[in-house]
Amino acid sequence: MNAKNDRHRVLVDAIEKRISTNFYDSSFALSDSVLTELVRLATRAPTAFNLQNWRFIAVRTQEAKKKLWEATGCQPKVLESSATFIICGQLPDHSVLAERLRSSVDAGFMPAAISVQWVQGADALYSERPQMQRDEAVRSAVFGAATLMFAAAAHDLATGAMVGFDPDKVAQEFGLGPNEVPVLLMTVGTAAPGNWPQKPRRPLREVLVFA
Ligand SMILES: Cc1cc2nc3c(=O)[nH]c(=O)nc-3n(C[C@H](O)[C@H](O)[C@H](O)COP(=O)(O)O)c2cc1C
Repeated sequence: MNAKNDRHRVLVDAIEKRISTNFYDSSFALSDSVLTELVRLATRAPTAFNLQNWRFIAVRTQEAKKKLWEATGCQPKVLESSATFIICGQLPDHSVLAERLRSSVDAGFMPAAISVQWVQGADALYSERPQMQRDEAVRSAVFGAATLMFAAAAHDLATGAMVGFDPDKVAQEFGLGPNEVPVLLMTVGTAAPGNWPQKPRRPLREVLVFA
């Protein structure tokens, strides 16, 4: 086995073994430093123009879990998992982009003129276009969430995505700004016995088209 084959096996295993976890070991707690590391890795996901238009709220105290649990129609995994991330996408704002690109310019690989062009590009793409802004918020949050799932897998942690929640209640209880969309929830923890395996997928001939 060479390093390339090892990497292939490890990554494909993570994809093929991931499940949407329903039952968690409620006695298992995660430290804030592990939760922080998961978000550090999640934020390595790409975003348009490197906008990084997201926020991750790690819900892990009993009190905060209870509020979130109520907003999910009382889905037990919110109480039983170690933590649930509220993954928020932010409506893109070109006026913050120059600052977000500054470290790429300072590092010397991005010419300053390109940074200016990207700011103009983001202005042209999103300003006065609410649907496009919302789409971008959702795209960024989903890339962040998917990367968080595999960051968790790298730590031997189980995850589950959830859309079954009241977004207005979540926004109100957790102080989301008017520019923030609670795109999805992601439970994290150690799986308890009884979870289903990954479900079979539709045949590729139904979902793959070559053009
Ligand atoms: C965007 C999204 C939202 C989901 N919302 C919920 C949810 O609210 N509650 C739940 O029990 N499962 C939820 N799921 C889990 C799906 O039912 C699950 O991913 C799907 O059945 C495939 O399961 P598998 O990945 O384990 O094969 C959600 C999954 C995704 C991707």
